[in-house]
Amino acid sequence: MKKSIRDVEVTGKRVLVRVDFNVPLDPKNNEIMDDSRIIAALPTIWYLIEHKAKIILCSHLGRPDGQVVASLRMTTIAERLSQLTNLPIYTVSDCIGPRVEKAVDKLKNGDVLLLENLRFHPEEEANDPKFSAALADLADIYVDDAFGTAHRAHASTYGVARLLPAYAGFLLEKELRVLGNLLDHAQRPFGALLGGAKVSDKIKLISNMLGKIDMLLIGGGMAATFLKARGYSVGLSAVEDDKVALANELAAKAAAGKVELVLPPDVIVADAINDLAKYAIAPVSMIPPNQYVVDIGPQARELFTEKLKQCRTVFWNGPMGVYEIEQFGRGTRAMAELLANLNATTVVGGGSTAEIVTEMRLGFKMTHVSTGGGASMSFLEGKTLPGVEVLLDEK
Ligand code: 3PG
Repeated sequence: MKKSIRDVEVTGKRVLVRVDFNVPLDPKNNEIMDDSRIIAALPTIWYLIEHKAKIILCSHLGRPDGQVVASLRMTTIAERLSQLTNLPIYTVSDCIGPRVEKAVDKLKNGDVLLLENLRFHPEEEANDPKFSAALADLADIYVDDAFGTAHRAHASTYGVARLLPAYAGFLLEKELRVLGNLLDHAQRPFGALLGGAKVSDKIKLISNMLGKIDMLLIGGGMAATFLKARGYSVGLSAVEDDKVALANELAAKAAAGKVELVLPPDVIVADAINDLAKYAIAPVSMIPPNQYVVDIGPQARELFTEKLKQCRTVFWNGPMGVYEIEQFGRGTRAMAELLANLNATTVVGGGSTAEIVTEMRLGFKMTHVSTGGGASMSFLEGKTLPGVEVLLDEK
């Protein structure tokens, strides 16, 4: 367990808070498309405001690769944070240097300053010691609330935390508790519903979770690899051929561990992957050679529903089909609705799965929607997250 901001006196102190305000922006008008990550950081920010700290928030936004990119400035985020808190959020045009030091000097107790995008400096991702030291000079205490970036050993998530007393924020703490409980104390039966394009992205996750779950339900593009491993033809669907043997191995491991592997009995097939494609339902034994698998079918939706209703804990990561195309998103939407109404602990992995649930306004009906895409995967794969490891231990 890591020390949290509750364990330190923050009043009057300069507190550097690493948040993950890396939110999706609309390429047309640069508007924030999903502010869940900003909202998720509010408990820590409010706590520090109420305890009269001088709050210095820092984050990356996008991948500007060490260059200043006007559309990735933090001003849009500051405006949204200001709307959400109804407080002025001060900004500054850089994240280190004399201008920033001046802005920090001006802070009164309870004020909030949001620094400019950390990744405008290549030193951030390089975990450069001088850059870390310049960040550390701004503050007395470091708080990490950026769960979404905790799998990165960057200057603002790792380097700086070695130079200041470093504590976990409430969001980081909650993510670790909920995801940690999934691995160690999940109520059984425990089902994992996995989708997404590639098996290769999920191998480590599946391997690490096999000993902890009772059933593994597979949809999305990766189902094609498992179906092929069972001997079905999967038409034009992209199958990672080198992963077919691995799918077989995972299936054997699941069987040995008495984990029920549930594959879709039917799928939606289409002659192309676009809005205008002609599509039909096909049992998995009759996938036409000239068609793509684009979603799970109605029987699969029913079977997955029946299985997941037996669970007391469900973890979901990855869409069931090409959900960006309305008619191929039925399986994904059905699973989202199902989980939202299950009488079970429901945990949704971050990234695209979290975005779907938020878009459908179902986030509040889940036990937890992770704010970390890569970070939640790394954690559930059993990896140590550098941004967590570096924080002060409770004992
Ligand atoms: C994320 O969106 O997963 C985090 O903000 C990390 O971003 P990155 O993958 O660009 O490091």
